[in-house]
Amino acid sequence: MLNKLITLIVIGSIYSTQVFAQQNLSALDVEQPEGWDDELALTIPEDLNPDPDILEIELEARVADIEVMEGLTTPVWTYGGSLPGPLLRAKVGDTVIVHFRNSLPEPTTIHWHGLRVPNDMDGVPGVTQPPIPPGGEFRYEFVLPDSGTYWYHPHVNSAAQVGWGMYGPIVVEDPSDPEVFGDELVMVISDMSLNDLGEFLPPDNGGDFGDLFGREGTTVLVNGKIMPTLKVRKGKQQRWRIINASRSRYTPIGLRGHMMTRIGGDNGLAGRSESAARFVLTPAERGDFVFTPANDPGTTALMRLGSVNRGFGTERRPEDLMYIETVDLPEVTPEEIPTELRTIEPIDISNAIEKELEMTIALGENGTNSVEMGFNGIPYWNMQALVARVGETHVWTLSNNSGFNHPFHLHGYFFQVLDDERVPEWKDTVDVPDGETLRIAINFEGRPGMWMYHCHILDHARVGMMGQLWVGPEGFTGPVPDLSIPMGMD
Ligand code: C2O
Ligand code: CU
Repeated sequence: MLNKLITLIVIGSIYSTQVFAQQNLSALDVEQPEGWDDELALTIPEDLNPDPDILEIELEARVADIEVMEGLTTPVWTYGGSLPGPLLRAKVGDTVIVHFRNSLPEPTTIHWHGLRVPNDMDGVPGVTQPPIPPGGEFRYEFVLPDSGTYWYHPHVNSAAQVGWGMYGPIVVEDPSDPEVFGDELVMVISDMSLNDLGEFLPPDNGGDFGDLFGREGTTVLVNGKIMPTLKVRKGKQQRWRIINASRSRYTPIGLRGHMMTRIGGDNGLAGRSESAARFVLTPAERGDFVFTPANDPGTTALMRLGSVNRGFGTERRPEDLMYIETVDLPEVTPEEIPTELRTIEPIDISNAIEKELEMTIALGENGTNSVEMGFNGIPYWNMQALVARVGETHVWTLSNNSGFNHPFHLHGYFFQVLDDERVPEWKDTVDVPDGETLRIAINFEGRPGMWMYHCHILDHARVGMMGQLWVGPEGFTGPVPDLSIPMGMD
């Protein structure tokens, strides 16, 4: 009898320590579920350079038949034949060399969105380099000064070319990032305008209204896939680096019943982490999130892009994005995500030069374009370059009463939004909502040359909402070179 009791106690305590141990496993003690990100795999290019500090690749722009919609082929415009283009991954301080060849039927370039490259590597046709004709080549080479999530895309006929599939992700790693952020998943969200046969609708589909509203595709993609499935384990965190590569669509990121922890964006980590049910990414914006799966094991949830109002008549039904399958394994305890992430010194604006840019839309006031957008009422083809000098700090006031939101993007430099309510961070693209005014501070720390700024709703840029900034060398007083943008090279 006593023996039996002892046995029971022993068995009982073994059992309870086992249960206890399982419940006490933390996120870092277990792996992601097997094959967790298989459906979201990105193409990894071959690194031709044995030096660990140099990423050297060949990249060809070409049309490739891709099964975007099930059972149908679409003649996608690609980098290297994949959708999205290959993931360029390197560490901060590395050099990137890209031997680029254009095998598309029209000219193109590559713009390295957000990377602080030398001016002649910025990929703006007629401004920083000639457009690369069909059959032409160009060698891009630059150092990666900043960690973070970036992307590349053309700067020629970009509303059309991006809409046809021309985009690829870039991750610049910071080896000092804490391990608790979880395993990394890079997600490129985009959309395409396809008919029932999988063929592209014309890039100017919808005419002036399409320009005015900004064209959102019929088909939403994550890493080139319709409704892929991502596997997660309850409590096991994942770090999602998300790039919105859509030509016009705003993408709210969130999953029902979950809080997203945002740790950074355009230029690596933000000053602090913050949590919310959803975070909206504008076209070209990036978000760096820690996702903590909270659904019950053995269930699958639908992740949707919630509806977002970006101005008059743009609000749509939510769109399905992907499935989140919570595998049937015991839950683990999530790691604590630190609040303080990085010291972001505010830019000293005490001697700043002020500029004002109003984002404007004119309707039916011009014989050729009945929708004409611009800054301060001037479309890019008539605009004078803004002037700055290396060493100067500027404060730009961006105002918008145009009826639509516009994601403002500046090439070449990061800026800080002057708003104490926001988590401090460096940005290159920011939403300027309709009816609002934003002040941004920029320090022109180097790299003189002609840089672009524009709305990253690419249809808006095309109809005029784009301008140039001449950053002269320190103390520059000479005349600004006339590098007006050739028509159509947007
Ligand atoms: Cu993604 Cu001119 O930029
Ligand atoms: Cu716009």
